[in-house]
Amino acid sequence: MIDFRLSIRIIAFMTYNPYDHYFKQAKKSGYKARSAFKLEEIDKKYKIFDKNVKTVMDIGCSPGSWLQYASDAMKKNRIKNPLVVGFDIKPATVEIPDVHRYVQDIQDTEAVEKIMAGHGVEKCDAIISDMAPNTIGFKDIDAIRSIELLRTTLPLYEKFLKEGGKAVIKIFMWPGFEEFLSEFRKLVGSKNVKTFKPQATRKESKETYIVKF
Ligand SMILES: C[S@@+](CC[C@H](N)C(=O)[O-])C[C@H]1O[C@@H](n2cnc3c(N)ncnc32)[C@H](O)[C@@H]1O
Repeated sequence: MIDFRLSIRIIAFMTYNPYDHYFKQAKKSGYKARSAFKLEEIDKKYKIFDKNVKTVMDIGCSPGSWLQYASDAMKKNRIKNPLVVGFDIKPATVEIPDVHRYVQDIQDTEAVEKIMAGHGVEKCDAIISDMAPNTIGFKDIDAIRSIELLRTTLPLYEKFLKEGGKAVIKIFMWPGFEEFLSEFRKLVGSKNVKTFKPQATRKESKETYIVKF
């Protein structure tokens, strides 16, 4: 007999449509990925990219739609000398002035700090993270790997996020989620820290976003 959880996975796989509305919209708008619309929704609701946001760190930036969105938002706000620095283990393919992207494992905090110092950045006005490890399909292992990876980025918020700065962090509502949220709140304060699931996120997905606004 097929295991119940396996049948759910098979149904989810059969109903999953990679070419959905947001995928088509991303193609039309020139964004590298549909994730841009999630950031857009978060930005519209929580005013992440306001006139004070000039320096942004993007964690897990490939293929580059958040880099594109951040750059566009800062252009709209007529920010002088904007700077976006993105990190990913895979290359991002966007070519935008003021957007710098590095093939760099975010877990190597020292290397990341060196790169930020090279840009003369001591503090960021916003840190956005859409990072996710490759999943292997075993929920418990995936959950542990995902939270552990996010945990390695906590020192970056401590070091680089300016007081009153903004943050957007993708996270999965798997075991370890509550603990991560409370660790993050301890670090940056609980004022203006909420979780939000954008409409552009598939209903069946456990993905949600921690937002500091
Ligand atoms: C959902 S994608 C990000 C999409 C991106 N925000 C965009 O809009 O184009 C998640 C990314 O996290 C990256 N990632 C996974 N582990 C990482 C690590 N240790 N350091 C940096 N990036 C990592 C993956 O390579 C992947 O490109």
